[in-house]
Amino acid sequence: MKALVLSGGKGTRLRPLTFTCAKQLIPVANKPILGYVLDQVAATSIKKVGIITAHETGQFVEDYVKDGSSWNLNVCYIPQEPLGLAHAVKTAKHFLGSDSFVMCLGDNVTGQGLESFVKKFKNEHLDALIILKEVDNPSSFGIAQLDEKGNIVRLVEKPKTPIGNLAIIGTYLFSNKVHEAIERIKPSWRGELEITDAIQEMINMGFPVKAEILNSWWLDTGKKDDILSANAKILDEYIQRDIKGTVINSTVDGRVNVAAESKIVNSTIRGPCVIGKGVLIEGSFIGPYTSIGDGSKICNSNLEYCVVQDCVTVRDVERLEDSLIGKNAKITRNQRNRTIKLHVGDYSEVEV
Ligand code: DAU
Repeated sequence: MKALVLSGGKGTRLRPLTFTCAKQLIPVANKPILGYVLDQVAATSIKKVGIITAHETGQFVEDYVKDGSSWNLNVCYIPQEPLGLAHAVKTAKHFLGSDSFVMCLGDNVTGQGLESFVKKFKNEHLDALIILKEVDNPSSFGIAQLDEKGNIVRLVEKPKTPIGNLAIIGTYLFSNKVHEAIERIKPSWRGELEITDAIQEMINMGFPVKAEILNSWWLDTGKKDDILSANAKILDEYIQRDIKGTVINSTVDGRVNVAAESKIVNSTIRGPCVIGKGVLIEGSFIGPYTSIGDGSKICNSNLEYCVVQDCVTVRDVERLEDSLIGKNAKITRNQRNRTIKLHVGDYSEVEV
């Protein structure tokens, strides 16, 4: 069995960050989302991984994953025009050959590993296994309608009229039969070859397709608030207290991880929180569910429930909450008058 990890696409909902970074590389708890996906693949017996990339951001993905040896995986890259999830499978056909494979979306994280799904897929000789989770906003996802016995009745991508609230999450298992189904489908109204349509086609063709309900959390990190929720979830689940940096005249409460070469001076940090390498926090309060990237400086400011990427400066800001700050950004207070002065990138969002 192989793995196909989708790390292409356009990332329009996360602009401007995705102008200079692949959306799958946005960090939660100071580690790119894609890293968590690869951790889960590495925990199975799968070794061969194909990573789908987009032309604009593929190099960033390659620079992070390299040959995959950090995960003990054998990784190759498959550039793709972002024309849909089924199109990505089609583009990877030469890599997949006649093997079965797990397909993971590079921007989805779950609290459950892949092993139990791989077992079910193999033991029950399935051609497709999809994983479902109840959601409040079904029109944003692929939705599966099940009968009383749990068999799939039909699948619809982003339904405009409700057919249920069981969303198809970003983990799929397929046999090589999926390629036959993909050959038979047409692009959807949004111009994409939809994997949801391919799975529906597999059902129509009589192949054994089953669904399993995920029994843990799942986050699709497509938008800013999803990144903040994923950050909170990962900090809650994985962060242990570990203070390698220097703490001077400060209070550090709870599960706080401070990397080496960082300095906390005259400040309060309340976990769960992660502070990267070479960070300076001075005269500040860092509240729960905050991640501060390497080399950042937070001075005389209060932050809570934020993802702050590398080399950011925040100075004299009374309260910064629910915020996602890109690399090398500077946020400072205008001391002289109450005017707001901005220098923000295209597609930025500022709430004042
Ligand atoms: O998150 C789960 C949802 O993912 C499912 O419920 C939907 O059925 C499925 O279509 C998909 O919906 P999205 O509209 O959220 O997919 P998105 O365009 O965000 O792409 C998902 C990932 O796949 C993302 O990491 C980018 C990558 N991708 C996407 C496309 C369209 C590619 O690598 N190539 C592509 O052509």
